[in-house]
Amino acid sequence: MRKTIKRFAAAGLAAAAILSLTGCGSLTDGKRIIRVSHAQSETHPEHLGLLAFKEYVEEHLGDKYEVQIFPNELLGSAQKAIELTQTGAIDFVVAGTANLETFAEVYEIFSMPYLFDSEEVYKSVMQDTDYMEQVYASTDEAGFRVVTWYNAGTRNFYAKTPINTPDDLTGKKIRVQQSPASVAMANAFGAAAAPMGFGEVYTAIQQGVIDGAENNELALTNNKHGEVAKYYSYNKHQMVPDMLVANLKFLNGLSDEEYQVFKEAALLSTEVEMEEWDKSIEEAKQIAAEQMGVEFLDVDVNAFKEKVLPLHESMLEENPKIVDLYDHIQAANELAKGEE
Ligand code: GCU
Repeated sequence: MRKTIKRFAAAGLAAAAILSLTGCGSLTDGKRIIRVSHAQSETHPEHLGLLAFKEYVEEHLGDKYEVQIFPNELLGSAQKAIELTQTGAIDFVVAGTANLETFAEVYEIFSMPYLFDSEEVYKSVMQDTDYMEQVYASTDEAGFRVVTWYNAGTRNFYAKTPINTPDDLTGKKIRVQQSPASVAMANAFGAAAAPMGFGEVYTAIQQGVIDGAENNELALTNNKHGEVAKYYSYNKHQMVPDMLVANLKFLNGLSDEEYQVFKEAALLSTEVEMEEWDKSIEEAKQIAAEQMGVEFLDVDVNAFKEKVLPLHESMLEENPKIVDLYDHIQAANELAKGEE
């Protein structure tokens, strides 16, 4: 019931927000309102990063722009909000790369399990802005472009019963993000992939529609999944970034100086988000363990890895768009090995 009321309230708010739009972006007190949508709560590192984005833009261009941030899927789930960003009804959205796969095939790469050897390699690749710019431009035809990335940690399986070995996944219904590559990944583990929106996962686990899901630790606390799934296994299958996506017409309509400010604000938001991320993971683990009774399981990562490594070859064969980035990441993995 509470959920229904929340949904109605959210839908109403979203509708009101959208209705108040006058085509592309509205003006209040002569200021252009910039709308930013994301799916997380107000304590999530991404929200904190976006507050820094808002502050920076308003500090430098406050006479012209006001940034409004809409958390908690208030303007719709990631997929819906991407569509709104595409048309220019809103200006920015934070979305995981899984949600971008249907717009640019290169983003499939991040669904490939065990792509990065370590978080250090992952961060070094993502922070290499010169290289990433070409990836960011890959959705131009769809009318939007990525302006920066946010760390969304390492994804692991969690369920109502313990998953200690890959065999424990056999036949289990596991929620994955709504992307073909995510479905292929879960199926390769022997699970039965259940793709659905992020906002539906809690109830689906609670009602036994699915046995579990896979995500970073914040899903346990920020999204309360730890209330309904008590076993979290560190099998570390993916590091999937979130992207701050902008409507392309909006970006192209900015003067060079304005564009520079928005770009700097975006980079600053990533810095803040990454710092907050590391703190929030420690905190989330503690809350999940002590207040929610979640058990964190250390498992043999190699056993999980072996099961799905053949996916690398088949994905590369099926999707030529990921080959360059794959090679680039493998080179970074090798470099890190040499430095050890
Ligand atoms: C994480 C990630 C989101 C993603 C979600 C999901 O929370 O940050 O971008 O949508 O997982 O699994 O759907």
